[in-house]
Amino acid sequence: MTRRSCPRGVPVSSPDLLPEQRLDLLESADNALAISVARHFAREMGFDDSQEFLIATAVSELATNILRYAGKGQMTFRVVEAGGRLGMEVVAIDGGPGIADIEKAMADHYSTGDSLGLGLPSVRRIMDSFQVESRPGLTICVGRKWRE
Ligand SMILES: Nc1ncnc2c1ncn2[C@@H]1O[C@H](COP(=O)(O)OP(=O)(O)OP(=O)(O)O)[C@@H](O)[C@H]1O
Ligand SMILES: [Mg+2]
Repeated sequence: MTRRSCPRGVPVSSPDLLPEQRLDLLESADNALAISVARHFAREMGFDDSQEFLIATAVSELATNILRYAGKGQMTFRVVEAGGRLGMEVVAIDGGPGIADIEKAMADHYSTGDSLGLGLPSVRRIMDSFQVESRPGLTICVGRKWRE
């Protein structure tokens, strides 16, 4: 999708104006789909280019984790409202083995996948809030980014 075919519109002024987007993550190509849908959603919400890029990065990290550690899962993007502000909420859910130690997983350079171990810490830094709940069979990551 090029910039030209997707101009930044009038920022949404109410959660009802933008329907939530849900997508299944089943194979590696779905990571790119999640990024694309997230970028589009962020643009429609009126986030600027750099915020759109950051949100896409966080979504990519969460999608990659789902595909790598759980095999499959789901992501949802929705508009949330609090204290008169609108934000984009990203929910990543999977039914995989779960994260054994969330505190460790949120720390820089912790990886059970022989990788950099920087995905979840990046998501935490990018989003204004980020919560992870996990047990065997259910992992839920919820991040929110408020519009300035
Ligand atoms: N959805 C998930 N299900 C199970 N375990 C997970 C999930 N997401 C993260 N983890 C665990 O948390 C650890 C840290 O995740 P994080 O994304 O920070 O690093 P990584 O995926 O190992 O490396 P990187 O993202 O930098 O390539 C992972 O190594 C894995 O053990
Ligand atoms: Mg990761």
